[in-house]
This record gives sequence, structure tokens and C-alpha cells, in this order.
Amino acid sequence: MFDKVVSVGLMGLGTVGRGVYRILKENSTGIEQKVGARIEIKKILVRDPGKNRGIDLDEDMLTTDASDLIDNPGIDLVVEVMGGVNPALEYSLRALRQGKSLVTANKDMIALHGRELFEAAEASQSDILFEGSVAGGIPIIRPLKECLAANRIRQVIGIINGTTNYMLTRMSKEGLAFKQVLKEAQALGYAEADPSADVEGYDAARKLAILSSIAFNTRITLNEVYVEGITRITAEDIAYANELNYVIKLLAIAKETNEGIEVRVHPALLPKNHPLASVNDVYNAIFIRGDAVGDVMFYGRGAGEMPTASAVVADIMNAARNLLKNVPGLIRCTCFEEKPVKSMGSTSTKYYVRLNVADKPGVLAGIAFILGNNEVSLASVLQRHTTGHSAEIVMVTHKVLEKNIQKALKEIRDLPAVHEITSVIRTEGD
Ligand SMILES: NC(=O)c1ccc[n+]([C@@H]2O[C@H](COP(=O)([O-])OP(=O)(O)OC[C@H]3O[C@@H](n4cnc5c(N)ncnc54)[C@H](OP(=O)(O)O)[C@@H]3O)[C@@H](O)[C@H]2O)c1
Repeated sequence: MFDKVVSVGLMGLGTVGRGVYRILKENSTGIEQKVGARIEIKKILVRDPGKNRGIDLDEDMLTTDASDLIDNPGIDLVVEVMGGVNPALEYSLRALRQGKSLVTANKDMIALHGRELFEAAEASQSDILFEGSVAGGIPIIRPLKECLAANRIRQVIGIINGTTNYMLTRMSKEGLAFKQVLKEAQALGYAEADPSADVEGYDAARKLAILSSIAFNTRITLNEVYVEGITRITAEDIAYANELNYVIKLLAIAKETNEGIEVRVHPALLPKNHPLASVNDVYNAIFIRGDAVGDVMFYGRGAGEMPTASAVVADIMNAARNLLKNVPGLIRCTCFEEKPVKSMGSTSTKYYVRLNVADKPGVLAGIAFILGNNEVSLASVLQRHTTGHSAEIVMVTHKVLEKNIQKALKEIRDLPAVHEITSVIRTEGD
């Protein structure tokens, strides 16, 4: 048993907080040996101390007063697993300014207020670690900052929202509609009662803002990420994609190009042989291309009590080692450059477009004419007779500029023979 103790203040004892408490208790022997000191939780901040939490707990540790942790000179390290931006941000900044190390799993706080937090940490030479904030249990922040630090990262493509990946997997395997799988995901506790952060892509966008800032050494803010969710994806699109040898995934994409950093979250057709195509259900994965290492992929559980707590406790151990060696502040913010973000109109991808048109001669020729005028060329076309006088056309373009395809689609929509442009989905990874 080691004499040295690193004292922890835990802010939040919900899903993740409970997991952190459990791991520190159940794996204490190994953790102690690996760190060279005991890690002891001294105080836990909650809203309701009377709540039954299903864990064996010394009630005296609970407090509803944040000062008991933040302003407590006996606490070395504060772990923020409360969630939300405020008061988590206020408490975290206060802890950092008093020279305490901070571990957090809060993607909202980091994506929106990263700069303030890192500046506070730098000023007081404290550590700020946030592995659990992106992709739960998957190690990705530290691998990017340390193991892949020798590389210039070319691209990061991730499936980083488990709820939508579960939903798209169910739609794909069972041919179910979006609304039906959403209900199912809510019943299973995978989706919130208000699912918008997941299905509209904002959860993935927050994580991508964090990942791309680290990968490209520049500060990418949430409002710079182009976001499109999966609410318009239908079982029909998934079936057509399958016929064309693709799967549909909600992708978080960041690339370094000569015109700046591309950062976008949207559903995309992904070739079936791409390593991310077989990432199913609630699993997450991040595919990274570095100039020296080539392609690497990280796969695992992107959320949940124990996977997220696994990342949080590893951060606690790392911060504890630094405290013991008297080198907190060693893990520096990596956003030391200022790179422009590329406009969405100047990105280029291949497109999948599904249209419902009048079933008569010359319609396809009219569409092809508009596409050609806008420098959009077609890679493949499927035409299906549907009902009565209408037919369905599914086209996949070659790589085209976003602004060109958007202009072409606007003109096509105005053609009298075009009843509806049913779906427009980008492709990735060809
Ligand atoms: N859940 C996951 O799978 C997961 C995965 C990755 C990252 N995260 C992140 O981890 C963080 C925590 O998530 P969670 O799912 O564990 O949340 P949660 O289950 O809602 O737990 C939040 C905890 O914080 C306490 N709390 C909240 N606001 C408070 C306040 N103003 N004052 C005092 N205590 C307060 C709550 O106290 P009471 O218990 O008394 O109400 C509760 O114990 C979030 O930032 C989330 O984004 C979660």
C-alpha cells in the first residue's frame, strides 16, 4: 500500500460519476500500483443527496455546495461529470484557477468554451484532460495528442454518435422507417425523449469540433462545423445504397486541404468495403489518416457508464501521476496554429440523388443537360418505374463541387417533369 494519496473531488454522481466511483473502488489495487499512490474520492457534488444511487457510499462525502470541492485545499484534482455548460464551466474554471487539475467528460463545455478553459489551465499550470468527452470509452484524444503527434494528420472520419448508428443499422438490417427505429431507440434508452441533439447531428458536431481542433492544431468552433442530421434518411435510400454497394452512415468528417480545414457532419453513402462500413449498432469508430502512419482506426463503445468511466479514470490516473511528479500543466493545448475553415460550397464529393419524375421520354435528357451545364457528370443512373405516370431516378455523380450541384438541383427542381427531388446524400470514402 502506498502512503501517498491524490485527493479527488467528484462533481456529479449520475451515469458516468457512478462508473468512476465503481472503477476507482473495484480496481483500486491495480490503479494504485500503476500510479504509485492511492486515489481517494473525498467529496462528491450532487443536486439531490437523498437519491438512491445503488452504490455503497459514505453519505458524508455528498455535498450540494461546490465550494466544498473547488475551494477545498485538501483536494488536488476535480472531476467534472455533471454535464451541461453552466454551472459546470464556472466550477471548472474556478478549480483550474486555484491550481487544481481538471478531468471532464463534458463535450458541450469543451466544444463551446475550450479556449477559456485551456487558457485558465495554462495560466495556473494545471492539467485539463477530457478523453471521455469524445467517443466515450475509445481512446482517441490522447492517441491524437501523443501517439500520433509525429504526423501531419490528413483526415479524421468518425462514426461518433451511437444513437444514430444504432438507428441506421436497424433501418438497414430490418428495412424499418426512421420514426419506428427512433421509438425503439427511445424505449431501449439509446435515444433521449428529445432526440434532436443526436438525430440532427449536433452531438457529433460538438465531438468533431474537439477532434478536429486537436488533429489539425487549430481551434475549430462548433459554429464552423457544417451539420446535417439523419431525419430525412429513408429505408428506400438505404435499399438503393445497398444495391449500389454502399451503406449509409452519419459521418463526422474533417480534412486538411490547401484551401483550409473541411469540417462537416452529415449522412453519407460509404462503400461497403470501407473499414467504417462494418461499424454497427451503438458502436463508434474513428478512422484517421496521418502522413507518416498511414491509416489507423479506433473502435469501441462510444458511451455508457463503464466505457466512459474507463476514459475518465485513465485521465484521473494521468493527472495524478503528473501531480505526484510535480509536473501538472505538462499536457499542453495543441491549438497553436490558426487555419481557415473551408467554405462548404467549395468542398467536393460524389452525390447520390433520388428523384420522382414524370414517366415520359426526354426527362432524363433534360436533367442530364442541366447537370452538364453545371459541370456535374454522372457515374451511374438507375431508373425504376414506380406508380401510374411517375418514375424514380437514382443517380450517383462523379466528384463535384458542392456549389455546382446545389445550383444544378435548384434548376432541376424547376423542371415541370420533376415531381420531387426525394433525397440528396453525399458519398464519402470512395
Ligand atoms: N452518459 C454517457 O454515456 C456519457 C458518455 C460520454 C460523455 N458523457 C458526458 O458526461 C457528463 C455526465 O453525463 P451523465 O450521463 O453521467 O449525466 P447524469 O446521469 O445526468 O448525471 C449528472 C450528475 O451531475 C449532478 N448534477 C448535475 N447538475 C448539477 C448541479 N447544478 N449541481 C450539483 N450536481 C449536479 C447530478 O446530481 P443528482 O444525481 O443529484 O441529480 C448527477 O449526479 C456529461 O457532460 C455527458 O455529456 C456522458
